[in-house]
Amino acid sequence: MVCSLYNERELLMIPGPTMVSPRVLRALSKPVLSHVSKEFVEGFAEALELQKRLFMTEGTPFMLSGSGTLGMEAAIANLVEKGDKVLCVENGFFGEKWEEIVEAHGGVVDRLRFEWGEALDLKLVEEKLEAGDYKAFTVEHVDTSTGIANPIDRIGELAKDTDALYIVDSVCGIGGMPLKMDEWNIDLCLTGSQKAIGAPPGISLFCLNDRAWEAVEKRKTPIADYYANLKRWKPIMDNPRGYFATPAVGMVLGMLEALRLIHEEGLEARWRRHRVFSEAFRAGLEALGLASFPAKGYEAHTLSVPRIPEGVSDPDLRGLMRLKYGVIIAGGLGKLAGKTVRVGHMGNATTNDILATMGALEMALMELGYEMEPGAGVGAAEKVLVTHGTEA
Ligand SMILES: Cc1ncc(COP(=O)(O)O)c(C=O)c1O
Repeated sequence: MVCSLYNERELLMIPGPTMVSPRVLRALSKPVLSHVSKEFVEGFAEALELQKRLFMTEGTPFMLSGSGTLGMEAAIANLVEKGDKVLCVENGFFGEKWEEIVEAHGGVVDRLRFEWGEALDLKLVEEKLEAGDYKAFTVEHVDTSTGIANPIDRIGELAKDTDALYIVDSVCGIGGMPLKMDEWNIDLCLTGSQKAIGAPPGISLFCLNDRAWEAVEKRKTPIADYYANLKRWKPIMDNPRGYFATPAVGMVLGMLEALRLIHEEGLEARWRRHRVFSEAFRAGLEALGLASFPAKGYEAHTLSVPRIPEGVSDPDLRGLMRLKYGVIIAGGLGKLAGKTVRVGHMGNATTNDILATMGALEMALMELGYEMEPGAGVGAAEKVLVTHGTEA
């Protein structure tokens, strides 16, 4: 039975969609504007500028209606031609997803697959890039299935010495973890609105640097996609007064507010807040005796992925947390279903949310017969939060 106390007050602590700030919700509730009105066009232009600052790039920003997957598809549809070889570097569910997208667009996949949650072996990545004649290669910043963060900065060093275009999926990273597109030699980087950016789902954001745009321009074959053909969208991104297809007016203005919030907090402060929250949450898990799934030292700051302890059932655990304590966390993805749970602590998450989630997890575990010291997780998390003096 859902406790009515939590009506409209449940804590959404899944790894996206995440809690949305009332400021963004207010922007979303405004009357719909014409897509060619001065107010909207100026808002869209400002949102695109703020997007560039978020990606830390001088490249071209694109903001289209769709989810993160649209950005993945647009990347391949525009950069890869039939027969082009693409290296997919994978250590989780989303890394493996690239294969299907590349194949759907006639590309030839070469996969460098690691165990889910295992750290990438950069020597092997380097060897592959040196030996293969790749048009592009794909890497996950954070693979949300396992909670691992890959060293995309160090991979960027390898990218410098290759002609292959470096494509990074930062759907679960940007806005919560450092990402410096230009400094790290990333040619195309993509994300979605609903994770660390803290807006509702529905907007796909990505940026291409000059090298990537040149590859689009120099294609020998036409782009086999109509809506995701970036040549059609670029004039709109350069001047949002133009028209190719109607932008999601309300969502773009919601994004604008979310991006303003990000830059008001400041990127450095935001990255730090996410790091402190993840350290606090992991300290709590450790105090409860719950093991983290991703390789040690490579844990993402945007989510935590603990293994479910022996004797505890996943539906019971998540059911209790939601119904009795009003906190929603996610189950394991793909082959990790029933073995792990995923807790998102990104975007607009606060210290209160971290402690409430840890408390709910503890109480649910206790009720399910798991042996632990009541308050151990919350206490350990509090210590980290206080020591690091987060202001969130
Ligand atoms: C790392 C990563 N990449 C891609 C996607 C796909 O994004 P979307 O579900 O917005 O299409 C997700 C979704 O959770 C993700 O976590």
